[in-house]
Amino acid sequence: HEEFTKVKNIATIELGRYEIETWYFSPFPPEYNDCTKLFFCEFCLNFMKRKEQLQRHMRKCDLKHPPGDEIYRNGTLSMFEVDGKKNKVYGQNLCYLAKLFLDHKTLYYDVDLFLFYVLCECDDRGCHMVGYFSKEKHSEESYNLACILTLPPYQRKGYGKFLIAFSYELSKKEGKVGTPERPLSDLGLLSYRGYWTRVLLDILKKHKGNISIKELSDMTAIKAEDILSTLQSLELIQYRKGQHVICADPKVLDRHLKAAGRGGLDVDVTKLIWTPYK
Ligand code: COA
Ligand code: NA
Repeated sequence: HEEFTKVKNIATIELGRYEIETWYFSPFPPEYNDCTKLFFCEFCLNFMKRKEQLQRHMRKCDLKHPPGDEIYRNGTLSMFEVDGKKNKVYGQNLCYLAKLFLDHKTLYYDVDLFLFYVLCECDDRGCHMVGYFSKEKHSEESYNLACILTLPPYQRKGYGKFLIAFSYELSKKEGKVGTPERPLSDLGLLSYRGYWTRVLLDILKKHKGNISIKELSDMTAIKAEDILSTLQSLELIQYRKGQHVICADPKVLDRHLKAAGRGGLDVDVTKLIWTPYK
């Protein structure tokens, strides 16, 4: 039975103006087992079997953006915070949708325990979801991100890096260090490695290497272990007299920074209006 239920059934979805091919199995309720295509309302994320149902739904659906608080707006880019407890159906729909593009993630249907940060591109028709990340309201393991997704039509444009940067800005506001939940996918790890490299090496350049891992962690909200593993993988750490010493040869730093790719879209913290979840 296990094998049978894990076969990818939904091959494509319609979402807003996009038709998107799916990547992985997602455990939609059994009544959707006979479908190969699903039609999503791009605002409330309810999904339907037929186009006509979606069209009927769109005439009734009042939402023009994710349910929840707009906590960031910069030009056409907005971020909404959705509380899984207050918007259970939306949270579950988002998880079903996300699982179509996430391989090994166990899905948390206990959406009550999570906040969802939904990134949108807004125009006169509404706020169109680009991607999101989820975050536990309380994490024992100092996770500041559970799942992250950029919808395929929007990938490779810097939105993933924006979402990662955003998750660290929230951690800074909380006065805590954070780390993404493991395991990371290949694309997730690539995105994180790029982010960590850019953020850390920019600081190392400015401080000419005269800075400790603890200080780097305090400045960036990146967990010390992630700083160490990033710098080690770039071979920027040496041991001298039993101590970690960070190498900060400007030429070496510039070479790594170049290899880490583009910075992506910046988070303008002056446009973030948010208080930590209590
Ligand atoms: N091939 C090679 N490198 C890729 C890549 C691809 N298809 N997609 C992303 N990367 C790497 C690149 O280094 C890229 O930086 P660059 O464009 O400057 O070279 C970096 O990751 C991030 O790119 P960015 O455009 O900011 O990310 P994104 O919006 O495409 O989102 C993910 C990245 C991981 C969120 C997205 O790939 C995704 O949603 N994947 C499916 C879900 C998933 O795996 N989530 C992570 C679970 S831990
Ligand atoms: Na994840």
